[in-house]
This record gives sequence, C-alpha cells and structure tokens, in this order.
Amino acid sequence: MHPMLNTAIKAARRAATVINRAAFDVDRIAITEKQHNDFVTDVDQAAEQAIVETLLKAYPGHAILAEESGASANLNDESEFAWIIDPIDGTTNFMHGYPNYCVSIALQQRGIITQAVIYDPVRNDLYTASKGAGAFLNEKRIRVTKHDRLTNTLLASGHGAGPRALDEYMRMYQVTSERCQAVRNGGSAALDLANVAAGRLDGFYEKGLKPWDIAAGSLLVTEAGGICGEFSGESAYLHKGDIIAASPKVFGQMVTLLAAFA
Ligand code: IPD
Ligand code: CA
Repeated sequence: MHPMLNTAIKAARRAATVINRAAFDVDRIAITEKQHNDFVTDVDQAAEQAIVETLLKAYPGHAILAEESGASANLNDESEFAWIIDPIDGTTNFMHGYPNYCVSIALQQRGIITQAVIYDPVRNDLYTASKGAGAFLNEKRIRVTKHDRLTNTLLASGHGAGPRALDEYMRMYQVTSERCQAVRNGGSAALDLANVAAGRLDGFYEKGLKPWDIAAGSLLVTEAGGICGEFSGESAYLHKGDIIAASPKVFGQMVTLLAAFA
C-alpha cells in the first residue's frame, strides 16, 4: 500500500473515533448554522483537527484544503501535494443521528487526485483507491455495475442550500426519475460516490458541490471502472462542482439526459 494512503487511513480512523464518541449522544453536539440549512458542528471541527494533525505530522510540508478550516497558506494550483478533506460529509444526517455520513480524504498531486479514503464509521466500511491500482472496500476489489440501460438503474443525487439549488434539483429529479428505477437522496455526496464505486448504485449526479465533497469519491469511481464528468461530459468537475459519476454506459445516457442543466 502507498505510504501516503496508509497515513490517510490512519487520519480517517482517528477522525472516526471522535465522530463515533459524539454519535452516542447527538443531543450534546454544538451546532452552528453557516448559512440557511448549512451546518457545522464541534465534532466536524474536532474530527478535521485530528485529520490535519495526523497528515501534517507525517508530511509537514504538504498543503491542506479542508471544509471547516479552509486552505493552508502554501496551497496553490501547482502544489505538489495537497490534501482535500471533508471531516464529516453528511453533517445534517450526523446531527440528527441518521446513520449516513462519512470521512473523506484525498491527496492531490499537481492537480491530479492520486490517493483516496472514504470511511463510513457507522458500517465500518473503508473505501480506498490509489491512482492506477484499483478501488477497494475493506481490502476487497470493487467495480461499478454492469447495467447498460438507464431503465434498469438505481441513481442518487442531492442538493446544496438555497432555493435555486432546490428548484434545479426538483427539475432534474423529475427528468431522471422518469427514466430509471429510482433516485435516492442520502445526504452524503461522498458516500454516494463510494456506493457507485462499490456497485451499490449505478450512478450519481449533483450540482454545486465543493472539492472536498467530490475529490476522494471521484478517484474511487474511476478506479472502479466508472467515469466522472461535468454535466456537459467534460472533465473539470472538481473545480466546477457539478458531477455525474456512473459506469461507462450509464454515464453517457445520464449526460444526454442532464446536458440541458449544464
Ligand atoms: C453535503 C452533502 C450532501 C450534499 C451537499 C453537501 P456536508 O456536505 O454532501 O449530500 O447534497 O451539497 O454540502 O455539508 O454534509 O459536508
Ligand atoms: Ca461535504
């Protein structure tokens, strides 16, 4: 295993210890609303601190882009090593004790995601990927589904805060729901991407995401044989924040269906 992936796993497990302890009594979690329906808790912050400390102890010169603390001073487009961190993806679920959230950590090397860890502390599921070396769930190789027709698929989606995002989500939901078996909204984009990689979902789409929601999950999907792209099919999804992720045949059909929302 790549040593940097190993360090990321260690960081994710430390964060999970913080998260699991707090999950025993969600009524004690301190919640702040960043904007309408966009929350941060003291547990997000403590988990993020545990991750950053673990990564920087091993690699003091690496840059950081983390959901709660933002970008380190040495982060730029040319950064040789930058860690992209979401300490809890699915914060709203976590606050309510709804068991669908995860830790997401990715390593970006000169703009390319090369290592990925998503850890689901509820199910004790550890998803890992290294560029060119495949994707794994609890050390077993995972692959995207083989479905080739949208009609046979189970998809997932979600939406960020704000009325515009909701309105567009509703319109996309209508269009996709009419063409596949069902569309789920689980409240954790990173976990949705991990589920696409593991063949538990055929595809995922969402607009307005942040790099920390997508970075690790996108490498899992591509290393599991899937494709990630913007709604136009182009490849700058990490910066754009709009992503379609699916097995190759389903990806093409989803782009055709959703291109009008690009
Ligand atoms: C959110 C989740 C959710 C998605 C939102 C994200 P957070 O991240 O990934 O599934 O629909 O757009 O902001 O706030 O729980 O880290
Ligand atoms: Ca997130």
